Amino acid sequence: MNEKEKIDSRQELKARLEFFRDLGVEFLVSPRKKAGKSQTAAVESPLLIAGGFSGGPATADSEEWERLIRKIMSCQACPLFKGRTQAVPGEGNRQAKLMFVGEAPGRDEDLQGRPFVGRAGQLLTKIIQAMGFSRDQVYIANVIKCRPPENRTPRPDEVKACSPYLLRQIELIKPRVIVALGKVATDFLLQSPKSMSELRGNFGEFQGIPVMPTFHPSYLVRNEGNKEIKKMVWEDMKKVLKLLES
Ligand code: URA
Repeated sequence: MNEKEKIDSRQELKARLEFFRDLGVEFLVSPRKKAGKSQTAAVESPLLIAGGFSGGPATADSEEWERLIRKIMSCQACPLFKGRTQAVPGEGNRQAKLMFVGEAPGRDEDLQGRPFVGRAGQLLTKIIQAMGFSRDQVYIANVIKCRPPENRTPRPDEVKACSPYLLRQIELIKPRVIVALGKVATDFLLQSPKSMSELRGNFGEFQGIPVMPTFHPSYLVRNEGNKEIKKMVWEDMKKVLKLLES
């Protein structure tokens, strides 16, 4: 590492520690060795799919995943396909114990074909790291696989058209716990008339899987100076960690 790289990496570490302090993290968890039921990570980047990457030896599940991803990539079930650069199926460990579900791809995600890679995504990555995981140890997906115009909230008919994909992903992954990021994911998974503020921090259930609703990382980005919101999210994540460790 040259001098400049050393300074960059020190600055990066400092920024990360400051963020953890804002979250209210009292301790740092060393990276977890066993986050998934196995360590096979599969990144569903369309490029990797095109390159034949299947995340491990071919099994009935991996063939099913391939079919599912291809369906998502060519889906025309709702008008959102017309505006997409590419669909964003999701990525991570297909045997993850922990799954994050967001709303829909934004501009960066639409361009890269990967979930949560913009500003909100960078924040989500830090939260995942603060929990002691890396992105490829968990699974990250959205309710909606194509970017809505101007990042507007997805419409109920779009959610309905897209829902079989997320449902199948959850069935295949069988996570021990799901974190629902924001209102769209929470409404989809918990079907509760209550507000986000009422629901967050308390486990609900989706088909027998505990679901922790928490604020969407974009909400944290929009309220950057508000440490209380970050702390609330971290409190929610601590409950998730406790459940995973039980
Ligand atoms: N917001 C989401 O809900 N999902 C993404 O993938 C990116 C931003």
